[in-house]
Amino acid sequence: MLRFDAETARLLDAGYKGADIARRRKANVSALKPQFGQSIVDIGAGSGLLAHDLSQLVGDKGQIFAVDPSPEMRAAANKACSDRTNVRVLAGSAYDLPFAEGTLDGAVSLQVYEYLDDVPRALKEARRVLKKGGHLVIGDLHWDSHIWHADNYERMEQMLRIWDSHMVWRRLPAYLPAMLRDAGFTLEAIRPEICQDNDFRSDGLAKLMVQLISAYAVQNELATVAEVDEWKNEQERMAEEGRFFFAITHYVISAVR
Ligand SMILES: C[S@@+](CC[C@H](N)C(=O)[O-])C[C@H]1O[C@@H](n2cnc3c(N)ncnc32)[C@H](O)[C@@H]1O
Repeated sequence: MLRFDAETARLLDAGYKGADIARRRKANVSALKPQFGQSIVDIGAGSGLLAHDLSQLVGDKGQIFAVDPSPEMRAAANKACSDRTNVRVLAGSAYDLPFAEGTLDGAVSLQVYEYLDDVPRALKEARRVLKKGGHLVIGDLHWDSHIWHADNYERMEQMLRIWDSHMVWRRLPAYLPAMLRDAGFTLEAIRPEICQDNDFRSDGLAKLMVQLISAYAVQNELATVAEVDEWKNEQERMAEEGRFFFAITHYVISAVR
């Protein structure tokens, strides 16, 4: 698994402010439809940017709880939300949310469930804390939808298989509808959000992924610094020559308790 340590928090903080990931956050907010005065938990809140967006929509009478097990990510969330009085950053996990039964209006979790060993258990826990009629919104990538052009496809495959080993679920959006029904939710909608990049944008998801995959591969001795540098240089050269191509689909799945 990827270590959500200080270096990862720094990379995520920079990348998550970029346009691709901002659009992904917006798609999750639209699906959740937060109302003034509501209490909402962001499960695996990470850098806290989604909690910040939500806090503006629920207003002063509302409350956003940003829950994350990683102290480094909680530090990042506290920093991002330091100007908001209606955000509380709390230690906890998707399996053990620090709330009483039936107390929250909404729950959202963005790119977290694909790292969980026991998704049914996490869905049961989300259902426990929601009020009847409360909404759960889960956003995750379906990695089979990933297209990433390369001159050296063999090396690209090697890098992407290394990345596969950092997550538990490659195809979670396809499993979630049935899992949600089994956990007692009513499925509301499945909305695809395509992320496409032809420029290797400096604030794009592709750029962030090159940094994260390189760090993960080197940390875990799955590739050398020279190998990841050659891969990155190839992608930069392709972008300079107008031949860069990257696309992946993020799914926003909403359900009602
Ligand atoms: C890829 S980051 C996404 C962060 C954030 N949701 C966002 O989109 O900006 C994954 C996050 O899940 C958190 N995480 C890992 N295991 C978790 C668990 N069992 N329960 C809740 N969060 C977890 C990590 O600490 C990290 O902050």
